[in-house]
Amino acid sequence: MTNVHAPMQPSKLQNYNSARGAEAYKADYQKKLHRKWSDKRERALLARYFQRIGKVDTILDLPCGHGRLSDLLRSHCQRLVEGDWSFTMVQLNQRDHDRDHRHYVRASALEIPFKDQAFDAVVSFRLSHHLETQELREQHLRELFRTAKKHVIVTWFSATSLKNMLRQLRVKIAGKKPKNVLRNDRVRAIAEQCGFRQQLAKPLFLIGSGHVLGLFTRE
Ligand SMILES: C[S@@+](CC[C@H](N)C(=O)[O-])C[C@H]1O[C@@H](n2cnc3c(N)ncnc32)[C@H](O)[C@@H]1O
Repeated sequence: MTNVHAPMQPSKLQNYNSARGAEAYKADYQKKLHRKWSDKRERALLARYFQRIGKVDTILDLPCGHGRLSDLLRSHCQRLVEGDWSFTMVQLNQRDHDRDHRHYVRASALEIPFKDQAFDAVVSFRLSHHLETQELREQHLRELFRTAKKHVIVTWFSATSLKNMLRQLRVKIAGKKPKNVLRNDRVRAIAEQCGFRQQLAKPLFLIGSGHVLGLFTRE
């Protein structure tokens, strides 16, 4: 059972919250080839998105994990707030990156503890596909749009990606668990309801990944 306070599988949450799980997630990005590729591609896309929007005053990065994107995001703003549901991730991140106007907070991306439009840009990488229900995935998006004054940069797992279509076959044939997806048109519709327009939405890879990275700007 998942809800707003425990929105992903308890075993996954426990893993991210344990010192071993947090260190393992960090080590994956240093050792595993597919993680290194996706990290490189995400950085390239982020750099492109920031070229379009320019430098901003404040960014909220939620969830920040161990701070994989901390240095890159800090180079595009004056003040960076790093947040995560996992105390352990926040501690690890702070240990490695606590300098030059970076702030740390334990927070849920489903009930973000900041007022409306508190940050120029709100960034949320690799959380949506962990959220177990459509309702929570949409609540996550609405919270990002509520707290962003100008821009939201967010990843989601696309329902229309090749990877998800293949998974759907395996769901039917082999009883595999469905992916936690969002339809791209639904993401756009929620953005519009919240006063944002989609500027860019690039797949991480056409084959092998269903993740999309979207850039939305307040109208
Ligand atoms: C796959 S990691 C992504 C971390 C980082 N954004 C990155 O791309 O490296 C998912 C993170 O989401 C955090 N998390 C899980 N549920 C959360 C929630 N409701 N609010 C904020 N963070 C959450 C986990 O603790 C974990 O650090």
